[in-house]
Formats: sequence, structure tokens, C-alpha cells
Amino acid sequence: MSELFPIPQTLAARAHVDQPTYRRRYAESLRTTEDFWEEEAAFIDWIRPFREVSDTSFDPADLRIRWFADGTLNASVNCIDRHLPAKADRPAILWEGDRPGESRTVTWAELADQVNRLANVLRGLGVAKGDVVTIYMPVIPEAIVAMMACVRIGAVHSVVFSGFSAEALADRIRDAGARVVITADEGLRGGRVVPLKRNADRAVAAAGGVDHVIVAARTGARVPLTPGRDIRWGAALALADPWCPPAEVGADDPLFVLYTSGSTGRPKGLVHATGGYLVQVGTSWRTIFDWHEGDVFWCTADIGWVTAHSYKIYGPLLNGATSVLFEGIPTFPDHARWWSVIEKHRVAIFYTAPTAIRSLMREGEAPVLRHDLSSLRVLGSVGEPINPDAWRWLHRVVGGGRCPIVDTYWQTETGSVLLVPIPGAVPNKPGAAGKPYFGICPVVMDSAGRPVAGAGRGSLCFAGSWPAQARTILNDHDRFIRTYFAPFPDHYFTGDGVERDRDGYYRITGRIDDVLNVSGHRLGTVELESTLASHPAVAEAAVVGIPHEIKGQAIFAFVTLKSGHPESGTLRAALVALMRERIGPIATPEAILWAPALPKNRAGKILRRVLARIAAGNYDDLGDTTTLADPEAVDEIVRRHRASL
Ligand code: WT7
Repeated sequence: MSELFPIPQTLAARAHVDQPTYRRRYAESLRTTEDFWEEEAAFIDWIRPFREVSDTSFDPADLRIRWFADGTLNASVNCIDRHLPAKADRPAILWEGDRPGESRTVTWAELADQVNRLANVLRGLGVAKGDVVTIYMPVIPEAIVAMMACVRIGAVHSVVFSGFSAEALADRIRDAGARVVITADEGLRGGRVVPLKRNADRAVAAAGGVDHVIVAARTGARVPLTPGRDIRWGAALALADPWCPPAEVGADDPLFVLYTSGSTGRPKGLVHATGGYLVQVGTSWRTIFDWHEGDVFWCTADIGWVTAHSYKIYGPLLNGATSVLFEGIPTFPDHARWWSVIEKHRVAIFYTAPTAIRSLMREGEAPVLRHDLSSLRVLGSVGEPINPDAWRWLHRVVGGGRCPIVDTYWQTETGSVLLVPIPGAVPNKPGAAGKPYFGICPVVMDSAGRPVAGAGRGSLCFAGSWPAQARTILNDHDRFIRTYFAPFPDHYFTGDGVERDRDGYYRITGRIDDVLNVSGHRLGTVELESTLASHPAVAEAAVVGIPHEIKGQAIFAFVTLKSGHPESGTLRAALVALMRERIGPIATPEAILWAPALPKNRAGKILRRVLARIAAGNYDDLGDTTTLADPEAVDEIVRRHRASL
């Protein structure tokens, strides 16, 4: 069992939640969950107050997830208007561009002005309450303006990571039925240009149904505009009215859609509802990072992920906090870039991912120590388990040994953090994702589907709903029920394995479904495999994760070719290019092994479990191979893998 790091006294003295308070409030929040959330809901400015707190059931035959359902509100009013006029001239966003020296400050008044104008532009284009608008933008203030403008008029944003390809974007535009897309001329990442408008043009052509594309200027490059369809951000906003009345939205009306990968089939668009999400995200953000007025917050996630939605955009905005918005990557122009940004803006709370920490660790301590990081008070980690080595480095080198690390466990589906060592309340244990948040009831299920009492390992589930939980998968409610509620009736199933120790800490042991976690990003094996199999030379493909020093997991592909297609380096390169083109650079395989045949059971299901062990070099421990239809296939793959090393 790993060691405990005591809570720093200076932090505990003024923390929102201390140890006794956590124990008492947590116990209370489970006994009277509705009372707890009713109190938290006072954080939001409602237009019409709700009467009923919740109506929920995780019974797959009668799934209900309703929170504050008869209340009404507007998200942008809660994120922006209510901080005015008091904070009008104070910074809402401290933007740092990809290149050092390129920066902008956006005040609350400027943010409000831009949001209102863009909301009017959207209205003018016929966007109405409930319509989905797809946002494909770099990490620039305009991206946040775009999200807020949507919710001002009750429209639903669907942000697509700007590292995704035109095809991935087209799928998401089509699935959501978006008629308006907001993008930028180009993006910049690590000094490299990302042709966003060009990708968007291709995606719009492929998807069909898009009437208008709004183009913000980032690099100022000349990009082709389609007359009648494309609209320049700057020109349109300049002409727009600077006041847009906020729409009155029901608490259970959708706020946004966000796509993530599942174990089967196509990416799924998780739908989040307005009221519950804002209540839980706004209150939990402040609690888990122990934010106090005046603290500068920085979350390094890209806007295309849920981390950014909840804890970089909605959390800080709801609380009227100043946050850093950084466009670039941690290693450009050098390995000290993050540390110089922390020093420049006197960042107090820094929320990042283990994969980045592992890559920066390799550069040694010197780039960190050149900078004054004494402003830091709380550090956060998300996306995958943080290995104890990376934990200790982050704690000692970056945090100077004085900052607790909040290892936040949650998912796109959960909307909000579920397991976390609240600073001031829960001492840190490196490698463990801490303890449940208020109102959250984790259940460890054994292989027979029975809850494990006390310490033990199993599947991580949750009993009982929480307000920020996703309500459905867009256009596929059956899949929502099947994926999350059917495996363990009356429980939400995360897809993760977990271990609970005697002190009640949870350690995530990794995905137990066919989902990979590459650099903290989810990739479904089926999605990767069908992309490989779409190449004319490929008969069949199987993808597994292999341990990777920096990325956590990397993609290892086994590919069977059609006869008449010789194995070659050129073909290998073509398959890599195909993955990057269809999905994006994050889908680049680490290795491709030509397999004459793939191991399957008698029902024809590919045994990825066996392949995963071969890919990791564990030839002597292939697990149960008695169900194999063709054991020779495995011998041949082992031979080839050995030879490839
Ligand atoms: C999956 C969710 C939630 C924001 C980022 C990813 C893994 C996430 C942790 C953590 C161990 C973690 C899980 C989870 N994960 N945070 N602190 N410790 N594992 O969101 O893309 O929806 O992925 O990421 O496997 O199921 P996501």
C-alpha cells in the first residue's frame, strides 16, 4: 500500500472542506441526497425555481434521470451576466497563444459583448432552441464565445476536437444534424498550422445539411469562402446587436452534446442537460480545486474534451473565476513553456494530465526550476491513473512539495468528478483516485455481479444518480441503456476496473471493455479496426493497447491482408496515413504486425485478450486459450512478433 501525504496545514486552515466536514457532509449527502443537491442548487440563478429535486431510476426497464426538471434557467446568464457589472473590467480569460509573446486578455464585459453579438448572429441564421451547432475551433477565446452564444439562445453546442480529421468531423456533424458550423481559418499547435477551414469544408461537403459556416480569424490566412454559406466572424459580429435576450431553458433541456468512443460501433454523442450539469459542475469545481476569489486557474485540456467543458469552461465561468486559456503544447517552443505561463500569470491551481507530466519528466528538473512556481497551491490530474513516479515528480518538482494533487476520476458520461481526494479533506495517496464526491455512491462489483463489501477489486459502478450525469446518447437511447445500465441492473457501469483499499481509497485499474486510453484519450478498438479494414488490401484487423512510457497505452494493430496484397513498408505507411486521415493523429498506430490469421473463438469473436498479451511480449502467459478455433494462428503471430523485436 502506498504512503499517505498529510494535508498541508496552511491549506487546510482555509479550505472550503476540511477532514471532519468531509466525513460528516459525505455521510449526510448519502442519507439525504435530495436535500444535499437542493442546497447546492442555490448556487444557480434560476428563472423559475424547481419544485421537484429529482426523479431517477437506474432500472434498465424504467430508466429515468431527471434533475430539477420543472425549473428553468439560462446557462450564459449564470456563466457571464451575473458577474456584471461587478467584474466588468476584470479578466475572465487570460489567453496565451501557441507562440510565446502572443497573448490576449478578455474581460467579463468583452466576453458578454461577444457572446450577445454572436448569439444574435446565430438567431439571424435561424438557429433555434434545441438546434445543435457544431464547433470546430482552436483553443482561442472565440471558442468559448461560441459555446456561450449557443446556450444563450437555448441551442446545443457540439464541440469537436480540432485534432480530429475532416471525416471524423463529418460523422459528428451528420449525427447531430447540425445546420451551422463554427470554425476558424487555421489553428496553430506547436508551430504547425492546422487547416481547420479546409477540413471543415470537406466535412460539410461530406455531411450535407449545413447551411452556414461561421469562420473566425485566428492566423488571418486567406481561406476560400463559399458565398451565401460562409460568414466571417468579425464582420458579422460588428454588425450584430450587442444585446441578446437569454432564452428560458428547462433544467432537463440539453446543454451540449459531446462525442466519445465506445467499445462497439461509432462514437456516441453524450447529451448533457442544463440544470443538473450547471449545479454540480459549478459547485464541485470550487470544492475539488479549493478555489478562492482571486485564484488564477489553469486547465490544460483541449476544448474538445469533457475535462475542458466542465472544469476549464463551465466551472470557472460559473464562479466568476479568471482562467488561463492556452493554445499550444507543453513542449513548444521549449520544455519550459508551461512553467513560464504559470509564472507569468501567477497560476494558483493547475489541472493537467499524467501523459504530459511523463513527457516533461524526461527533460529533467532544470526547465521547471528556472521558473518561480511559488503561486501554485493545488495541482490536479485527470484522464488516466497517475503512476506514482509521475505523481511524486509533479508533487515535489512542480508543486515544491506543498501542493496536494487532486486526482479526479470521472468520464464524459458522468459530466462531473465522482472520485477525488478533496484538498483540505482527504490526504493524498499517490496512484489512488481518492474518495467519493458528495452524494456519490461507488459500488465495486465482483464477477458474479455482487457488490464487494470493504476492500476488494471488481467493476466500478455507481448506485443512484447525480445531477451532472448524461441523459442519453443522441439518436440512440437503447445503446445508452445497454451500455451503462444493463450490465449491472440498478447501477451505472463505468467500464473501468477498480480496487478499493481498507482506507476507502479507490484505485482505477484500467478499462475492462474494448476501449483504449491513449494519452488520456478514449479510442474504441472497433472504430480503429473498422478504419483499418476499410483499406482495400486489408481482410481483417484487430487492435489492442500496449503499455507505453509516455502515452500510458499505445495502439498495436494486427492486420491480415487479402491474398494478392504483399506485406510491405509502403502498405504499412498507407495504413498509418489512413488512421490519421480518418480519425486524427491520436489514432496513429505504434506498431502494425502482419498476421496471416487472427485468433478467434469458435463463435468467430476475435480474442483481443490473447493478442494484447502477445503485443506486450507475454507469450508464456496467454491466459485461457482453450476456446481458440485455430491455435496455429496464435503460434504464427507469436513467431512474427518475436522476430519483429
Ligand atoms: C475514462 C474516461 C474525465 C475526463 C477525461 C477523460 C479514465 C479518467 C481518470 C483518473 C484513472 C481515469 C477512465 C475513464 N480516467 N480519469 N483520474 N484515474 N482513470 O474522459 O474520455 O470520458 O474517459 O478515462 O478509464 O473511464 P473520457
